[in-house]
Amino acid sequence: MLLLSIESSCDETSTAVLEDGYKIKSNIVASQVEIHKRFGGVVPELASRQHLESIIPITEGAIKEAGINLENIEAVAVTKGPGLMGSLLVGLSVAKAIAFVRGIPFIGVNHLEGHLLSILLEKPEIKFPYISLVVSGGHTNLYFVKEIGNYKLLGKSVDDAAGEAFDKVAKMLGLGYPGGPVIDELSMEGDPEAIPFPRAYMQEKPFHFSFSGLKTAVLSYLKKNGLYDEETKRAKIKKISKKHLSDLAASFEKAVVDVLVDKAIEAADKRECSSIAIAGGVACNRGLRLELKKRADEKGLTVYYPSNKLCLDNAAMVGIAGYFRILKGERDKFDLDATARLEL
Ligand code: KG4
Ligand code: ZN
Repeated sequence: MLLLSIESSCDETSTAVLEDGYKIKSNIVASQVEIHKRFGGVVPELASRQHLESIIPITEGAIKEAGINLENIEAVAVTKGPGLMGSLLVGLSVAKAIAFVRGIPFIGVNHLEGHLLSILLEKPEIKFPYISLVVSGGHTNLYFVKEIGNYKLLGKSVDDAAGEAFDKVAKMLGLGYPGGPVIDELSMEGDPEAIPFPRAYMQEKPFHFSFSGLKTAVLSYLKKNGLYDEETKRAKIKKISKKHLSDLAASFEKAVVDVLVDKAIEAADKRECSSIAIAGGVACNRGLRLELKKRADEKGLTVYYPSNKLCLDNAAMVGIAGYFRILKGERDKFDLDATARLEL
């Protein structure tokens, strides 16, 4: 089956063509990072306008790159939520139009299910059930993936998502947007034990996360050391040496990573899973990958990482999630609406 999939929930416009679910014939991603960078975060109005401009060329591009024509497409899958309403509607409208004109099956997909199943595109051998940690700018969710279509949310962040913490701390340090990749880079040179930032374990909710306290701890550290400018609401970056900045980044990153890893391992143990998969933008983080692998090895668990492109938002992951639903005979009607807040 040749399936066309579309993702436009946040600041990436992406279209993919998959063959029989697993084979990526094309997966084009147009990132809007350059547009949102100067605002220090995603501006919803600009995001939807940019999706509008990109969606047709990207869709044509994905079909061409797959070496097929629109007439060869047999089904269409699209992200229906969660995400930015205006952005979701762009992808949804194009997907509906194509499916309607061609008279082929159409299915709306939960973006989070896409992240959960993204690992199957590269590691179809992963053993079920597995634990999946979806860590992105909008989510920090820990799932028990029993089988395709059967997911249990074990815990999530009660405040900031992990990626959001990276972005906010980077902004505070004047490092630009998105913060994750810059902090990842700086951390490689820093000492993760240099500054003892707190780890929120939330004993009463063993699989939930909280990162806003950590963000406040970084702010307090800067203030206490005379490194914070109250007027600009930024660190006095000129007063911080490169070494000190790297230590700060590494200590912050380690505080995030330790909690993510501890809870993922604990979940695997409790749910008797031998595999852990990670997904979402923060899954690109090298510190997280190394620590998770180290701790999993000690426990005899196997860790699966998608490549960076499949960790970040992309249409191929939406395609594989849609493929399994189409296979099961699920279809959506053309009055399907986008849902900004959608749970999984
Ligand atoms: O999955 P994604 O592309 O979009 C959302 O659905 O949010 O994730 C983007 C998030 C941003 O917060 C970004 O700072 C973070 O992923 N990120 C990283 C890294 N690369 C991207 N965080 C830590 N380390 C990285 N290398
Ligand atoms: Zn995402």
